[in-house]
Amino acid sequence: MKNQSSNKLPHEMKNTNILLTGATGGMGKAFSQRLFDQGANLVLIGRNSHKLQQRQAELLASNINARNSVEIFAVDLIEAEQRTRLINYLATLPFDINLLINNAGISQLSLFEQTTANEIERIIATNTIAPMQLTQALLPVLLKQPSAQIINIGSTFGSIGFPGYAAYCASKFALRGFSQTLSRELADTKVTVKYLSPRATKTNLISEKIAQLNTALNTATDSPELVAKELLLLIEQHKSERYIGWPEKLFVRLNALFPTIVSKSIVKQLPIIQKFARE
Ligand SMILES: NC(=O)c1ccc[n+]([C@@H]2O[C@H](COP(=O)([O-])OP(=O)(O)OC[C@H]3O[C@@H](n4cnc5c(N)ncnc54)[C@H](OP(=O)(O)O)[C@@H]3O)[C@@H](O)[C@H]2O)c1
Repeated sequence: MKNQSSNKLPHEMKNTNILLTGATGGMGKAFSQRLFDQGANLVLIGRNSHKLQQRQAELLASNINARNSVEIFAVDLIEAEQRTRLINYLATLPFDINLLINNAGISQLSLFEQTTANEIERIIATNTIAPMQLTQALLPVLLKQPSAQIINIGSTFGSIGFPGYAAYCASKFALRGFSQTLSRELADTKVTVKYLSPRATKTNLISEKIAQLNTALNTATDSPELVAKELLLLIEQHKSERYIGWPEKLFVRLNALFPTIVSKSIVKQLPIIQKFARE
């Protein structure tokens, strides 16, 4: 086992070694900044090496006295062979990963009848299958650590089925089910599994069309920095889930207990959703 460490240090994450996927996106940038500021060692993952290099330079420039490292590795996580390359690369690092953050994800607003088979496949492959398979590949290393965490970035749409997002909702519902199951399955190990559920957040995932729909529906939108703060709280807390936003938190619970009430309220918005989804 390499240079071991604990990730129980809330304000001081020195020796916490993090694999962060989706590091070049809106959430990823805010997450990486927060975690770097806390002293964690980072391995940043994205598909685009130029964007990764830029992010690495920005982080290192943000504190030239920092002693923690920022490694980068470009990989398309839906490709099995590329995930294997990533695992082999991690084995060459001087530290073991003890915190995996499955953050990479894609979304799309389209009515189900207009969503292509290829789009459905890509969304499920990116948001569900890739994080499950990356987690499985990294699990032997995580299980060897004195303590380790896996954090899956879900969505409010992982708890509430919302028209226009059938594939995305299916992918995030499945990710939430995976998180809950693995958290229970690993309950007698040192690996804890957690799920963070952001609501709409201002990143490039929100296309122009989605932004217009959100405005029309009066949907509140958070900053990625707020979500990053919530991520740190989740890392510290003992609970395995964290839901962001009010009234979204309430709707998640209401939807689980009384789905017909939530259906009635969502169906009232259907004509607006259809209008934007069809555009
Ligand atoms: N923004 C929201 O409103 C919102 C709300 C709730 C939950 N979320 C969740 O938050 C997470 C981060 O989303 P975001 O808003 O930050 O989106 P974003 O700005 O579009 O960033 C997405 C990130 O995922 C990476 N990625 C996508 N497909 C990949 C693949 N096949 N292999 C490797 N990397 C891949 C992208 O890499 P490249 O840069 O190389 O493309 C990018 O770094 C997602 O899981 C999303 O579902 C977002």
